[in-house]
Amino acid sequence: MELNKLAILSNIQVSARYWHMIVAAPGLVNRIEPGQFFNILCETTFPFLRRPFSIYRINKAEETIEFLYLVQGAGTKKMTEFKAGERLDVFGPLGVSFTLEEDWETVLLLARGVGIATLTALAQEAVYNNKKCIAILSARSHNDLLATEALQSMGVEVHKVTEEDGTSDVKSVEKLIEQIISKQRVDAGFTCGSKRLSKLLQNVASKHSIPSQIALEENMACGMGACFACVCDIQNENETLSVRVCTEGPVFDLEKVVMA
Ligand code: FES
Repeated sequence: MELNKLAILSNIQVSARYWHMIVAAPGLVNRIEPGQFFNILCETTFPFLRRPFSIYRINKAEETIEFLYLVQGAGTKKMTEFKAGERLDVFGPLGVSFTLEEDWETVLLLARGVGIATLTALAQEAVYNNKKCIAILSARSHNDLLATEALQSMGVEVHKVTEEDGTSDVKSVEKLIEQIISKQRVDAGFTCGSKRLSKLLQNVASKHSIPSQIALEENMACGMGACFACVCDIQNENETLSVRVCTEGPVFDLEKVVMA
């Protein structure tokens, strides 16, 4: 991990609540793995706020990385003011990445809201490694299903569920996962963005013995293991351990995470 000032190539609003930023990352792009994150300096004047952002897309050929971010507080609001040509102050890459085993042929992604951004980088890697990738994307409305086209253009089979359509409740999503699993073997599951859906995947994965991983989203401060603001509980055999999401995670085996 290191401190970098990356050139902003674009920073545009892509829906009512989400913005998309592309930055040049030469020399860095080959060292970033899906699931990792950067601590970005959002507020360049006092109180110098840094916030964690997962990586949305990694473009090795163009040596760029992308962030898809939800504008929901002072930091992300400030980020919308950054212009192409300015420099983005980033610390990272940080944290533990997802693992894709070589012998997995088909993977299932279950993402909600901004968690879709985190799993898009993983989908990119899975497709690059010739794995079949199926994604269930959940959001409040169609307007928030941002990465759909990006995922489809990679060849990902996308299933959309929304509150708007009345299709995103746990029962309906469970039915959809069971349908997918009944039609083909799924070797691994991945989730991000919703405790409710993560719990669901934990149950379904356990029932079908599908190894699964989760990228946890916790409030963070230092982002590098010093402040313990991001602690969560992990079940390790017979004991429950408190671990830091920023350093021991954010990716964990889903079966080990103690869901509150
Ligand atoms: Fe400080 Fe994780 S954010 S320890």
